[in-house]
Amino acid sequence: MKALVLSGGLGTRLRPFSFSMPKQLIPVANKPVLEHVLGNIRSLGVTEVGIIVGDRGQEISEAIGDGSRSGVRVTYIEQDTPKGLAHTVILAREFLGDDDFVMYLGDNMLPAGVAAIAEEFTTHRPAAQVVVHKVEDPRAFGVAELGPDGEVQRLVEKPQQPRSDLALIGVYFFTPAIHEAVASIEASARGELEITDAIQWLVTHGADVRASEYDGYWKDTGRVEDVLECNRYLLDQLESRVDGTVDATSVLTGAVVVEPGARVVNSRIEGPAIIGPGTVVENSHIGPYTSIGRDCRLHRTHLDDSITLDGASVADVRGLHGSLIGRSASIGPSSRTAVHRLVVGDYTRVEVAA
Ligand code: DAU
Repeated sequence: MKALVLSGGLGTRLRPFSFSMPKQLIPVANKPVLEHVLGNIRSLGVTEVGIIVGDRGQEISEAIGDGSRSGVRVTYIEQDTPKGLAHTVILAREFLGDDDFVMYLGDNMLPAGVAAIAEEFTTHRPAAQVVVHKVEDPRAFGVAELGPDGEVQRLVEKPQQPRSDLALIGVYFFTPAIHEAVASIEASARGELEITDAIQWLVTHGADVRASEYDGYWKDTGRVEDVLECNRYLLDQLESRVDGTVDATSVLTGAVVVEPGARVVNSRIEGPAIIGPGTVVENSHIGPYTSIGRDCRLHRTHLDDSITLDGASVADVRGLHGSLIGRSASIGPSSRTAVHRLVVGDYTRVEVAA
């Protein structure tokens, strides 16, 4: 079995971050979402991975390289415009050959893995097997209606009036039967070749299409709130490790990771929290539920339930909560008293205490 990972697309809901980096590279518990995805695929025993990339392909290939860090071999497949999930299968035809494959959306996190579902697929080999999850409001997703034995009877993309609460959650198993389906469908009202329509085409043409329910934690990391929630979930499984230095006046409580080259000086780190390599935390209170990237500077700061990306610096700000702070961003005191000065990019969100 091969894997096809989708990392093109626009990521407009993750602005302003998606202006400067592909959303699949946003770090959760200090590891890009896409690397979590590749680890998940590797745990299925799949090592041949095609990654669909759009105009941010170069950044993705710089971050992921040949995949060896995740134990897989990556082939990059370019998609010039995001024409839909089914379009990526057409583009990947040569890479996929006549192999079965798992298609995985590069911004979806399923930390519990899908090994049991993969095994079900390889044992019974239906034409397609989708992964579904019960959600409260399925209107933002593809929605599956199932028959009594878990067979898919109907699939609808983002229905206004969903007829079930089972959302498609970004992992699909296919036999080569999908190639005829993706070649036979038309673009949807939003102008995309929908994978949901291709799978529905299989159902309509009498193919065996199955669904399996994933009941672990799942998150489409499409919005800032989702990224922070996912960070909290993963940090809850953190195990303490101190490879950097912590001075005698600092206190660590709970699960805390201090990466090599990081320095904690006269500070309190409340786990779960990760302090990235080369980062300096001084006279600060960090955590809980906080991931600090590489080479950050945090001075006289209180920060919890947050993520700071590499190279960010924060000084003299207390009460920072639920924040996502971008690469090399700088937050600190104004050089004039009683003055706030903001240099913020498009679609940035700043919320100050009332
Ligand atoms: O998150 C699950 C949902 O993902 C499913 O319930 C839907 O049925 C499915 O259509 C999809 O919906 P989204 O609207 O959330 O898909 P999105 O545009 O966010 O794209 C998902 C991933 O695929 C993302 O990593 C970007 C990538 N992508 C997307 C398109 C449209 C590509 O690589 N190429 C594309 O052409």
